[in-house]
Amino acid sequence: MAQRETWATRVGFILAAVGSAVGLGNIWRFPYMTAENGGAAFVVVYLLAAGLIGLPAMLAEFTIGRKAKKNVFDAFSSIGFPAWRIVGLLGLVTGFWILSYYSVVGGWVIQYLLGSFTGTYFGDPGTFFGDISTGPTTVAYHAVFMLITVGIVALGVKDGIEAATKAMVPSIVVILVGLAVWGVTLPGGAEGLAYFLSPDIDALLSNLDTIIPFAVGQAFFSLSLGMGVMITYASYIGEDDNLAVDAGSIVVLNTAIGVLAGLVVFPLLFAQNVDPGEAGAGAVFVSMATAFGELPAGELIGAVFFGVVLVAALSSAISLLEVVVSYTIDNYDVSRVSVSVAVGAIIFLLGIPSALSLDTFGLYDEIANSLLLPTGVTLIVTFVGWVYGRDAVAELRQGTGGFGSFASTWLWHVRVVVLTAVVGTLVLSVSELLGISLFG
Ligand code: TRP
Repeated sequence: MAQRETWATRVGFILAAVGSAVGLGNIWRFPYMTAENGGAAFVVVYLLAAGLIGLPAMLAEFTIGRKAKKNVFDAFSSIGFPAWRIVGLLGLVTGFWILSYYSVVGGWVIQYLLGSFTGTYFGDPGTFFGDISTGPTTVAYHAVFMLITVGIVALGVKDGIEAATKAMVPSIVVILVGLAVWGVTLPGGAEGLAYFLSPDIDALLSNLDTIIPFAVGQAFFSLSLGMGVMITYASYIGEDDNLAVDAGSIVVLNTAIGVLAGLVVFPLLFAQNVDPGEAGAGAVFVSMATAFGELPAGELIGAVFFGVVLVAALSSAISLLEVVVSYTIDNYDVSRVSVSVAVGAIIFLLGIPSALSLDTFGLYDEIANSLLLPTGVTLIVTFVGWVYGRDAVAELRQGTGGFGSFASTWLWHVRVVVLTAVVGTLVLSVSELLGISLFG
């Protein structure tokens, strides 16, 4: 079997992980979650969740992946705990599951990008979303998105994923900064900023029971945690870097890009008098399209905006596909190219129901975020905290150059604080999924 691949550079690894993290979760999901959960108050809880729960949980995945140098399934046996491969199996299933509908949204984005050039959605953005979001054409664009994703992953870790994300992540940042600067200068833009940035503390305190699980869940989704993307990506690290510095950079960059996306979306919505509270999956698409339809040079701005959304979505989709591809080529003597194509084809088929019905699509998204990812994170955190334990600390210490004393504190933080938060989130989100209210 061929030698296992590694990243060419440390920056390449960090950018690939940021590319995975920055995606539809930041530009599409985060604004509508914020709008549905009371604006800036949600942002505050989200920032805390990303730093206090997301960052240590990412380190947990890194310590598994770098030590094992294996895919998400075999990583657990490689470090001595074969029974825990069940968590890896869940990760593989979740990868298939999420990418199947994520790619459908990717297809919507391509249609919006094309529609921007011609101004097709300008007349009636609501109807446009209805037309493009389900049906045979949606299936076709879902196929196009999957094909591009397969193409990048087929090129390999270095020449595909690393090369692509090295170009993609910096362009995402530059373009979003440009759009944000332009957005706040629009009339009404300042109100959008205020809505996004000044929290209503009373609203926050009275809705903590819904805000916390949504914010923690959003942090997991946005940081690509809970299904082994970060285990897989860390398994390609060649030398022992300081994982804490890497994870810290990734979390800061991802959060900053999420906030940047909010700075683009909210001023634009307020400038067009669009109510961000009327949210839902289609909301950001419809309302951004409405905004572009009414702005001077809307074709150009729309194309730039949907172009950046597409790049962000692709750099995340490749990480989802890589989890499954990595498992297959670690275990079978098959070429990366044929595995990428075969797995991509299966995921494409799995996504067809979501491309035909928005209800099915919503159900897939809800099951992923309320059940699969919280279960995955809970199991990974339990494993690292209470089973892998001291060995995880030793792994985290590697590469810290004598500054590794934080590692034991990290372990206790994972054992107590992170575990409590993830179990709480799991319970609240599963009961939410089943329609049970735990609080009156
Ligand atoms: N983090 C990506 C986003 O924000 C989506 C994503 C990629 C993801 N890989 C993941 C989510 C793994 C959960 C698990 O769009």
